[in-house]
Amino acid sequence: MAATANRTPVDLNHLHPLKERNQYDPCIVVIFGGAGDLSHRKLIPALYNLSLDGELPDKFAILGFSMEDLDDEKYRAFALSGIEQFSRRKVEKEHWAKFAPMLHFNRGSFTEAADYQNLRRRCEAIDAERGTEGNRAYYFAIPPAFIDTCSEGLTAAGMIHPHEKEHPFTRVVVEKPIGSDLASASEINAELARHFDEGQIFRIDHYLGKETVENLMVLRFANAIFEPIWTARFVDHVQITVAEAEGVGTRAAYYDHAGALRDMVQSHLLQTLCMIATEPPNTTGAESMRDAKLDVLRALRPLGDEDIEKRVVRGQYGEGLIGGAAVKSYRAEEHVAPDSQIETFVALRCWIDNWRWAGVPFYLRTGKRLPKRSSEIAIYFNNVPRILYNANPRAPLAPNMLTIRIQPDEGLALHIMSKVPGSATKLQQVKVDFHYVTSTPEAYETLLNDVIVGDQTLFMRRDTVEEAWKFVQPILDAWEQSPMDPPIYAAGSWGPLEAALMIAADGRTWRTL
Ligand code: BG6
Repeated sequence: MAATANRTPVDLNHLHPLKERNQYDPCIVVIFGGAGDLSHRKLIPALYNLSLDGELPDKFAILGFSMEDLDDEKYRAFALSGIEQFSRRKVEKEHWAKFAPMLHFNRGSFTEAADYQNLRRRCEAIDAERGTEGNRAYYFAIPPAFIDTCSEGLTAAGMIHPHEKEHPFTRVVVEKPIGSDLASASEINAELARHFDEGQIFRIDHYLGKETVENLMVLRFANAIFEPIWTARFVDHVQITVAEAEGVGTRAAYYDHAGALRDMVQSHLLQTLCMIATEPPNTTGAESMRDAKLDVLRALRPLGDEDIEKRVVRGQYGEGLIGGAAVKSYRAEEHVAPDSQIETFVALRCWIDNWRWAGVPFYLRTGKRLPKRSSEIAIYFNNVPRILYNANPRAPLAPNMLTIRIQPDEGLALHIMSKVPGSATKLQQVKVDFHYVTSTPEAYETLLNDVIVGDQTLFMRRDTVEEAWKFVQPILDAWEQSPMDPPIYAAGSWGPLEAALMIAADGRTWRTL
């Protein structure tokens, strides 16, 4: 019997409407690095989509700030090409005519005091023209080394308004990576704190803006059926996989110092783990939600030397085939050191030592050049007792499982046992499968919308970032102390054999996605 699939498309915008229109204050989003790759691919297309949905304030402007030789007209052309290439919705001529005048560009250097004075005057001119009332969201789409310089420049130019005085507001958006280890993350946070109040700082982890990650909270706390079984009494183990088919691409200059542990585990995987494992927050307010997630990180059992040796696996992709096409090894990629020991794959086992999760292993894995792009959480439930239908030790029943697909094909599936129709009593696992509609807002749309309305729920607080680094730091230290060539896995495979052996040592296997 084929597994039955109950496909129920649902419009996610119903589940999580964007903010009410009357919550929008006028503002200017000033993008530091406004002519860079992130603006081109993500930020401007996201703002365009928000504008299409009527999800921007009426009085609104975007101001790019960087050294490129651009003016407003050229910046609009740059923005248009970004939208044409990367927006989830195509350019509508009529709407573009409304959106284009919102875009401005101010050429300047991050290190020149005079350029901040120019920027200030430009912002004031836009305030006068578009009624943006002095409200500013500074988006730092810049390398972390410039965070302090730019904050200092803004302070010196008197462009940061105290948080206590609510109007006009100043917000700052900071991209990951926040640091490259615990010490550097604390330093960046301390630098930010010298200029901004924590209530003004929006640290982005774009995974938290993904609809399916955000909806984990709704799934868990807006339904009565999951929470009672969301505990060690019913859950055998949890697997979180973030797989990418892409290689390092053009980002080797950064990645060949970072690697998968810093790039993915410290941020996206641990944040996703928090969403799965958190206790119900007291309220849906930003601080309650963030306190609850912090508690998960604090309950993570620190990894000792033996855990790191046996339960943390790294790998690096070699040559192989992706979708039938030959791809090069990591070391052969442009700007990668030919003897690089950087890991492009990590798998690890961790424990959350609290009442709910004591004894339940959480397995995390992520890698580049895996067979496909697929991110998923799988919750494996305990099996039924070894009696009745499960009495045959040679053919144990498959345990129930809930899989939550973060991307692509967002949705969830409950895997349950069912009888094969017919006179014999044969059982088979079937899937109750639920798919969200495909055109969900991009993470950056949700997150930029939240910056504009001042909702910090989906952003990482200082203590959360540092707590996540605390978990990862012993692994970084151990790897630094005993450098080695990571095991090579063929591009297009599911990582090194060591990853399979690590989970097999617990009598389990990775789920095939
Ligand atoms: C980024 C990492 O934060 O997330 C990249 O720096 C990674 O290395 C990317 O490719 C994955 O994001 P997504 O949304 O494509 O899963």
